[in-house]
Amino acid sequence: MTRRKVFGGNWKMNHGLSETENFLQEFINTKISSDCDVVLFPPFTGLHLMQKYLKASGISYGAQNFHCEEKGAYTGEVSLAMLKELGCTWVLTGHSERREIFKESDELVAKKTRMALDHGFTPMVCIGETLDERKAGKTKEKLNHQVRAALFGMSETDVLKLTFAYEPIWAIGTGVNASQSDAQEGVKLVRDTLANLYGQSIANQISICYGGSVKPNNIEGYMSQADIDGGLVGGASLKADDFSTLVNNGVK
Ligand code: 13P
Repeated sequence: MTRRKVFGGNWKMNHGLSETENFLQEFINTKISSDCDVVLFPPFTGLHLMQKYLKASGISYGAQNFHCEEKGAYTGEVSLAMLKELGCTWVLTGHSERREIFKESDELVAKKTRMALDHGFTPMVCIGETLDERKAGKTKEKLNHQVRAALFGMSETDVLKLTFAYEPIWAIGTGVNASQSDAQEGVKLVRDTLANLYGQSIANQISICYGGSVKPNNIEGYMSQADIDGGLVGGASLKADDFSTLVNNGVK
């Protein structure tokens, strides 16, 4: 079973307009494999530059966040319709920083994932355990719970439109990356949960990335693992040459 390889660049709250434009000018002139999905997730303010530079480039982009209502009196929020106007086709849901810092609940993650699908976006659903949960032997329970909660009420057709990212929280931005086997184990736990819910054949078609201190020099090792289909990358996606090298190393 060959699954689509996916490499996401989650810029988090980094890069203003000039940095975004510099990145894009370099990135679009770099040879990047077309044998995978490459998706940039800049802050909202960079999305119009993505639209300007990435049209017809084969590189996708999306939003790190959005609000769970269609429109109205929600000061400071951005809707999916607004993101669609900017040409976004992907969104992140359930990122650990949204869950931990902004207290997004499992229910909200499920609602936002559902909404994103209904609006025709490809959600990349993020899940992952904390260091304490890992130390307490609760990784399996946590991942199983997060996947089930995010998929509440979803049909087979819906779930086939999703991509997942297993991001152990202790490996995010810390430079402490998970070992290849730890990453494989986490991604496999996600796939096993999908298989329990929808059957193995559906689970085998869904791309699942690993995220957490992924770098140009360690992506190949992760990609050599049976269940890992790509990377969700923070720090190493901020420089065009790092990220293009990472993607090209990942599809080798
Ligand atoms: P780092 O690659 O900086 O560890 O970030 C991972 C991440 O959270 C991507 O969503």
